[in-house]
Amino acid sequence: MIEIKNVSKSYIRGQKVIDNINLEIKNGEILGFIGPNGAGKTTIIKMMTGILDIDEGDILIDGKSIKEQPYEAKKEIGLIPDSPDMFLNLKGIQYLNFMADIYRVSEEDRKKIIKDLSKTFEIEDALNEKIESYSHGMRQKIVIIGTLLHSPKNWILDEPMTGLDPKAIYDLKIMMREYAKKGNVVFFSTHILEVAENLCDRVVIINKGKIIFIGKIEELKQKMKENNSLEELFMEIISDD
Ligand SMILES: Nc1ncnc2c1ncn2[C@@H]1O[C@H](COP(=O)(O)OP(=O)(O)OP(=O)(O)O)[C@@H](O)[C@H]1O
Ligand SMILES: [Mg+2]
Repeated sequence: MIEIKNVSKSYIRGQKVIDNINLEIKNGEILGFIGPNGAGKTTIIKMMTGILDIDEGDILIDGKSIKEQPYEAKKEIGLIPDSPDMFLNLKGIQYLNFMADIYRVSEEDRKKIIKDLSKTFEIEDALNEKIESYSHGMRQKIVIIGTLLHSPKNWILDEPMTGLDPKAIYDLKIMMREYAKKGNVVFFSTHILEVAENLCDRVVIINKGKIIFIGKIEELKQKMKENNSLEELFMEIISDD
C-alpha cells in the first residue's frame, strides 16, 4: 500500500511542480498515472522511491515513511525508471545477480525467477552479453526482471511499455495483472491511453502538478456525461484545466 500525503515539490524555489498531492494506492490494485509531458509523473515516482527529496508532506510505503525509514520502505519497492540505460558495462546476468544480492534473494529464488522471466521475454541468449550491446527493448526487459527478483509488494513502473515490441507489451500487461492479483500494488505511468483504459482498476490524471481526476474510467465517463473514448475525455479534461 502506498499513501501520498500532502506532497509538494519545487525544483526552483517558489515554483511548485507538484502541488499538494494526496493519493492512496491499495493492495491488489493496478493504478495508471496519466497526464501530459511535464505534468509531474516522474517527479512523483522519484519521490515515492526515495530518489528525490520531498519538500512538503510524506509518502508511506506499507506504512513506512520514505523520508524517515528509507531502508525499510525501499525493501518493498521495485522501480522501473523512465530510462533503462544503466549498468551498461555489466552483462545481463551480472546485473540481475547484483540486484538479487542487494535485496538478499536466495540462489534458488533468483535462479527460478531469472529463468522464467528471461524465457518469457526471450532474452535468455543475451544474458551473457553486456547490457551496452542490448537494444532499448532488451534493456527495458532486463530492468523489468531486475525489479521483480525480490518480489516487492509495490511495483512502480515509469512508462514501462516504451520501446517494447507488441508481444513484450502483451506479456508485461499479463505480468502486471497477475502481480496485482497476488495482492500487490502496481502503479505505472503511461501515455498509452488504451493501456490505461484496459488494464487499470483506477486512473489518476495529473496536470501541472495537480491531480485533476482519480477513479474508474467509467466514473470519468459518467462525470463528463458523454460516451467518449478515453482519448477524447483526456483532451477535454486537460483543456478545461
Ligand atoms: N531536474 C529538474 N530540474 C528542474 N526542473 C525539472 C527537473 N525535472 C523535472 N523538472 C520539471 O518538473 C516538471 C515535471 O516534470 P516530470 O519529469 O515530473 O514530468 P512527467 O509528467 O514525468 O513528464 P513526461 O510525460 O514528459 O515524462 C516539468 O515542468 C519539468 O520541466
Ligand atoms: Mg516522466
